[in-house]
Amino acid sequence: MNICVFASGTGSNFRALIDSAEAGHISSKISLLITNNSDCGAAVIAAERGIECLHISKRKSDLSDNDYGRLFTEALEQRQIDFIALCGYMKMVEPAVTEKFRNRIINIHPALLPSFGGKGMYGINVHRAVIESGAKVSGITIHFVDGSYDTGRILFQKCVEVEPDDTEYTLEEKVKKLEHRYYPEAIKSIEEGRMALRGRNVFLF
Ligand code: GRF
Repeated sequence: MNICVFASGTGSNFRALIDSAEAGHISSKISLLITNNSDCGAAVIAAERGIECLHISKRKSDLSDNDYGRLFTEALEQRQIDFIALCGYMKMVEPAVTEKFRNRIINIHPALLPSFGGKGMYGINVHRAVIESGAKVSGITIHFVDGSYDTGRILFQKCVEVEPDDTEYTLEEKVKKLEHRYYPEAIKSIEEGRMALRGRNVFLF
C-alpha cells in the first residue's frame, strides 16, 4: 500500500511506522505526511527521514468546505495514495476524504473504545480520565475512521493493566509501547489481506 500519515503532534507512531517500513517488516511505503501543524514533531521526523510533508490548514484561509476538502483529495490522488493512517491527527478528517477512503483509513486511540473516546479525549486527557475512573485495564484501539470522533468499526484492541501506582504519565508510557508495536502489526495484516469484514465486526488475523 502507498500510505499517507496524518499527524499533528510528536509523531512517535509515525516514526514507528517509518521504522517498520524501512526494516521491511511491513511492505507498504510511507510516502506522505499531512499535518495541520507545520511545527510539530511529526513534521521534523518527515524532514529527517526524507518523507514529503504537506501542511494543510484551514486557518487564515477563505476556502469553502468543498475546496478545503479538495485540497486533501487532490493531494492524495496526485501521489496515488491508497491508504491513510492517522497518528495523533487533531482535526476531524474532511468528509471528502473519509468518503473516498472508506475502509482504507484507520486511527489509533490510546484507550479501549467505546470508553474514553470522543471530542476532547486525546493525549494525556485520556489517561487521566482512565485513572480517575478507577478502571483496572486500559489499552489501545485501532479502528476505521468514519465521520465522527472514535466511532468507526474496531479492527484491533490490546489491553494493559492499570496498576495501583500508575499515574496518567506512566500509563501513557505503557500505552505508547503497545501502540508502537501493534500499529505496524495491524497495517501488516491489512496489506496482506488478513482482514475479515462482517458488518460492524472486523477482524484482523
Ligand atoms: C497517540 O497516543 C495516539 O493513540 C493518539 O494520538 C497519540 C499520538 O502520539 N491518536 P504520537 O504523536 O504518535 O506520539
